[in-house]
Amino acid sequence: MSKHEILEKNVFLLVLCMVLAVSIGGLTQIVPLFFQDVTNKPVDGMKPYTALQLEGRDIYIREGCVGCHSQMIRPFRAETERYGHYSVAGESVWDHPFLWGSKRTGPDLARVGARYSDDWHRAHLYNPRNVVPESKMPGYPWLVQHQLDGKDTAKKLQVMRLMGVPYTDADIEGASATVQGKTEMDALVAYLQVLGTAIKNKR
Ligand code: HEC
Repeated sequence: MSKHEILEKNVFLLVLCMVLAVSIGGLTQIVPLFFQDVTNKPVDGMKPYTALQLEGRDIYIREGCVGCHSQMIRPFRAETERYGHYSVAGESVWDHPFLWGSKRTGPDLARVGARYSDDWHRAHLYNPRNVVPESKMPGYPWLVQHQLDGKDTAKKLQVMRLMGVPYTDADIEGASATVQGKTEMDALVAYLQVLGTAIKNKR
């Protein structure tokens, strides 16, 4: 019996060797990504989310916006002409968890920052039909009624710092005070307005 025949006739050995081969293949692709600047370094000029933007991001998660909106512009002409520069890894290094999404019932939002005025976003989020008559997006009128109490804001920044976001002690100390009295609408709009601007601003 040849050596290869032994392998072919023993299903457990075969599976073991297959798993080994696939793992080596996978690891050689994945492991280097943890050590390359292109995937680990923030793009030039990018700033961590402010406390208010971070709260807005949490509201974006809570309200399930990611279920209808991706934040990932692929490097295809049809996408870059519509949305702007394709997304790069360095823009997501401080996003925990990332919100790339996989569903586009609505448009991609990776570069929506600074595209509309704050007032446009407020009117749109309150009731999208206010500004886009044919819109199918649901309204979020309660966002203007709920105020942020800032109770957990400092904690949130602290946890982000633990995961590598460069917040200073001063950022963390001042976090609660900067969001107190702001509405959830203020926070969400602040978040939307910064999306993708690190690269867009350079053009
Ligand atoms: C049921 C799917 C759905 C959900 C959930 C949803 N949207 Fe939308 N969104 C849409 C559709 C469809 C459009 C395009 C029509 C329009 O502009 O209203 C849109 C448009 C937008 C736009 C304008 C984008 C552009 O480039 O013109 C923004 C900003 C936006 N949504 C933000 C949000 C936020 C923030 C949330 C969560 C609070 C959210 N959406 C939840 C479907 C959705």
